[in-house]
Amino acid sequence: MKFETPVLPYATNALEPVISQKTIEFHWGKHVQTYLNNLNNLVSGTPFENATLEEMVKKADGGIFNNGTQVWNHIFYFNSFSAKRGTQLSDKLMKAINESFGNLDAFKKEFDTQAASIFGSGWMWLVKDEKGKLSIIKASNADNPIRNNLMPILTADVWEHAYYLDYQNKRADYLSALWNIVDWDIISERYANYNPIELKKS
Ligand SMILES: [Fe+2]
Repeated sequence: MKFETPVLPYATNALEPVISQKTIEFHWGKHVQTYLNNLNNLVSGTPFENATLEEMVKKADGGIFNNGTQVWNHIFYFNSFSAKRGTQLSDKLMKAINESFGNLDAFKKEFDTQAASIFGSGWMWLVKDEKGKLSIIKASNADNPIRNNLMPILTADVWEHAYYLDYQNKRADYLSALWNIVDWDIISERYANYNPIELKKS
């Protein structure tokens, strides 16, 4: 049994011009597929062979952790966006943003500033703790807040493969453009309910 390749929830050109079709084809079509292939090969014959993706992210180390977390993170990242424009935060999410960061613009600025400062490859996260309080955390390489019992709400992939074709070295431009494609309906739902990311096996 191997994890099946998940389906991208929109057309490969749906996020243009913020993320080009070419970037989606390489990032989703090649990079994510490689992580998934690696994961399927690595778990064979290990105690994680029948584990869920979330169990791997929470408990594995080494190659299974790195590839499993990269798969999880990318599904979460690509499912943060849509071709819809003008979606709005729920009242509850807006209230939590205001309590932690002052207002939405201040949150975006802090998120982008911290993400731009990640040295090398990594992920920027907006997370919720068990009391509903929001905070932002930086992570290097492959890491995921669920390992620390924090609920991911939003993420930005700051590995160069996420933006180099479209923005070259200008990571800050990529980050500020991402806000134009964030689907706040999805992000608000994540704040309200945790829905584990799982992959089908066949
Ligand atoms: Fe990536």
